[in-house]
Amino acid sequence: MSDRFYVTTPIYYVNDVPHIGHAYTTVIADAVARWHRLLDEDVFFLTGTDEHGLKVQRSAEERGLTPQQHADATSARFREAWALLDISNDDFIRTTEDRHAVAVTALMQAAYDNGHIYKDTYEGLYCVSCEAYYQPEDLVDGLCPIHKRPVETLREENWFFRLSAFEDRLLAWYETGDAVLPEGKRNEAVGIVRQGLRDISISRTSISWGIPVPWDPDHVFYVWYDALINYATAVGYGSDRERFDAWWPTVHHVIGKDILRFHTVYWPAVLMAAGEAPPRQVQVHGFLLIGGEKMSKTALNQIFPADLVEDFGVDGFRYHFLRENPFGPDGDFSYEAMVARYNGDLANNLGNLLSRVATVVGKKCGGVAPAPRADSPLAPVVESAYEATAEGWARFAPSVALEATWRIIREANALLEEAEPWKAEPGPEVDAVLGDALEALRIVAVLAAPAVPHATTEIWRRLGLAGTPGEQRLPEAARWGQYPGGATIDTGAPLFPRIKA
Ligand code: MSP
Repeated sequence: MSDRFYVTTPIYYVNDVPHIGHAYTTVIADAVARWHRLLDEDVFFLTGTDEHGLKVQRSAEERGLTPQQHADATSARFREAWALLDISNDDFIRTTEDRHAVAVTALMQAAYDNGHIYKDTYEGLYCVSCEAYYQPEDLVDGLCPIHKRPVETLREENWFFRLSAFEDRLLAWYETGDAVLPEGKRNEAVGIVRQGLRDISISRTSISWGIPVPWDPDHVFYVWYDALINYATAVGYGSDRERFDAWWPTVHHVIGKDILRFHTVYWPAVLMAAGEAPPRQVQVHGFLLIGGEKMSKTALNQIFPADLVEDFGVDGFRYHFLRENPFGPDGDFSYEAMVARYNGDLANNLGNLLSRVATVVGKKCGGVAPAPRADSPLAPVVESAYEATAEGWARFAPSVALEATWRIIREANALLEEAEPWKAEPGPEVDAVLGDALEALRIVAVLAAPAVPHATTEIWRRLGLAGTPGEQRLPEAARWGQYPGGATIDTGAPLFPRIKA
């Protein structure tokens, strides 16, 4: 049986519409999922929407809708955005679905039965945008440190989760090495726990828009405890134990740094409390900034996927966000950088290699593809680039992986420039160089398929190959020398027309 690989995005709040920050996370998770499918693993890729809580209740009220109507409308916007970006999720979960209430009820009941939940009164400073309590010392000028908005004093009789009892177990989990990555983010999680954990309130009586606490139905669960459990719901927790055991805990959560505490502290602890294993891995990336600022509705600096897809196409969009910023640190988004990256990597490097080879095959070989040389100088280039590409994807570093794949393109272009087959007489030497370049393109089409699925499928077709690059299996498909030759090459229009700045 093949390995299982379960990957998730955060489930996005339905009070906001999808912007490029949400798309950033989702495209990364999608490309990683596609890479693991190439490795012939059994992949389950989950995304969805987070629909309960005070924030959603209030934004529905502002729009004169019921929370459910509001959630239905906005959740649909996320599905549309992901369809536009060719996101290959296997499931889309909504926290208002019945299956989710079943899982939340079962998991929290298990934690309660194990003695980790108790009743107490709580008064604290609450940020509705974060849906989280703050300590006075956490505030910046009296405002929420993340949203820079006023907090509210809430006093509630709540159910509490004994988070403080899990410090040692959490520290032991971080020490397993790659549970939380990159390393800087793991250190942040370790720091939070080392400071000492307070028990946290996990229920609310002030709102009704949530999942009722099974042993005390006047309360609903705190939205974060509801939300995190989606990852268990989707693989059958509470309804299909066999399925859950098949997928858990092979799960890899891809998240932004804003929700590190919830995923690396609250979530593994409640799983442990319910008697389940913590997630296999949490991969935490930085923020995409606009002119150094975080995107937000109030700052009016949000950019929406459709705007950029219009100019750069779906592949241009995906490639940019996978390639431009290394996974981990914050990175600034700039339109100019996007144009430069597109023109450089996609139009000049990849697009040009394809059109050059196709044109010269047309002129010098009657349009019929020659086969590659077994001892091509590109063979060792491909071998090492494949290793580096695989290593990059394995550690959720798409920019590293793509940089490695593009080395093949650069070397193939360099080989052509050196040999100048367009100037030479037709014959075995011209055939050899063109066959090598075609083989390089075949391999690049497979390795780049997770990032640019449309363009690579088109390359595959123009090379006269059957099926799609996404259906190939690695590492076999990256082995040098498989391009058969003999096919009629389709020249076609430029894959990535240059964009004028
Ligand atoms: N609903 C919670 C998550 C619950 S998961 C069990 C939530 N939703 S959110 O809509 O606010 O999404 C936050 C996530 O969106 C971030 O963690 C990140 O993955 C992504 N991003 C939102 N803005 C972003 C940037 N500006 N840059 C990068 N990622 C961003 O929090």
